[in-house]
Amino acid sequence: MKQKEILLFGATGQIGRNLIRKLSKNNYKITAVTRNIHRGGYILKTQANPGYLELVEMNNFHYEKIESLMKNCTVCINLVGILYEKKKNQFKTVHTDFPNLLSKIANKLKIDKFIHLSALGIEQAKDSKYAISKLEGEKKIKKNFENSIILKPSIVYSVDDNFTTNFMTLLSRLPIMPLYYKGQTKFNPIHVSDLVDIIIEIIDSKYNKLTLECIGPEQFTFKEIILNLLDSIGKKRLLIPLPNQIAAFSAKLLQLLPKPLLTEDQFKLLKYNNVVSGIYKSNFDLGFKTNKLFKDEINKYSYNWKIGGQFANNKISKLK
Ligand SMILES: NC(=O)c1ccc[n+]([C@@H]2O[C@H](COP(=O)([O-])OP(=O)(O)OC[C@H]3O[C@@H](n4cnc5c(N)ncnc54)[C@H](OP(=O)(O)O)[C@@H]3O)[C@@H](O)[C@H]2O)c1
Repeated sequence: MKQKEILLFGATGQIGRNLIRKLSKNNYKITAVTRNIHRGGYILKTQANPGYLELVEMNNFHYEKIESLMKNCTVCINLVGILYEKKKNQFKTVHTDFPNLLSKIANKLKIDKFIHLSALGIEQAKDSKYAISKLEGEKKIKKNFENSIILKPSIVYSVDDNFTTNFMTLLSRLPIMPLYYKGQTKFNPIHVSDLVDIIIEIIDSKYNKLTLECIGPEQFTFKEIILNLLDSIGKKRLLIPLPNQIAAFSAKLLQLLPKPLLTEDQFKLLKYNNVVSGIYKSNFDLGFKTNKLFKDEINKYSYNWKIGGQFANNKISKLK
């Protein structure tokens, strides 16, 4: 079988790093694009077997350069995304204009597949700029290139994430934890390795022209997620439901931080459940079963936030 050449954008992120490792193990050759080859190279160099990974630096979304890179590939995967806007990094540019450009080039060059990562639960969130930009990106892709696959994951978690790890840090430092929308928003968290397995399956499958919602095997409310994290790091905290007006004001302040913990846009998005919509098929419908359980997986790295670290309990039990 001819070796597949993959062109990967957003390779240095949580999903990209995990994907590169499995792609190279599965004999795919990867060209990974990053905005900063020194930082990207430092993160990515150890993720692939020698000869399987080439790094390319690109600062702007440059049509000719992307076209010349895509000429050498059969599959293009776009993992570029942002959680908040900063200067030139605007939602519309990153989530709508860039996928629009990539899918136009994919169509011109008639590559085998274009796989794009969008997000779950954005259809109803008509007041969130993040959701609007992601949805617009999906529409452009569908219009531009038939052989497109749009994957819409719920929250993706792992030791490399910005979600469970940030919350474990907050929960280990703060005496109280505010709950937005009473902590009732629902999620179907999916472990990064389960999501990466779906992407690998899709690359070699017959599937094309597909929009797929990607979820883990369990559903939790935000409050249940926080309780699981607390249990895993061995802490008890007061969980306080914040009235929406106060929560919105706190988001206004928190978004001023260099790496915001919460923005006004994220606060709006949190109002909507992050679960299957019923509009599209899910990975379970196609037989791509995810089986990593939230509690089991977070227990594998939560010791970083526990007093005494990984072997604290073992030592104590041995001394007794
Ligand atoms: N993680 C989740 O829970 C989750 C849930 C739903 C959907 N998704 C979507 O899945 C995709 C990948 O997520 P992730 O968690 O791996 O994201 P991530 O860790 O935040 O990484 C995002 C990547 O985007 C690249 N990037 C950001 N701004 C860019 C710009 N202006 N130009 C070019 N590249 C830029 C960065 O690459 P460089 O800095 O190397 O250039 C980085 O590698 C995103 O589209 C995200 O929206 C993620």
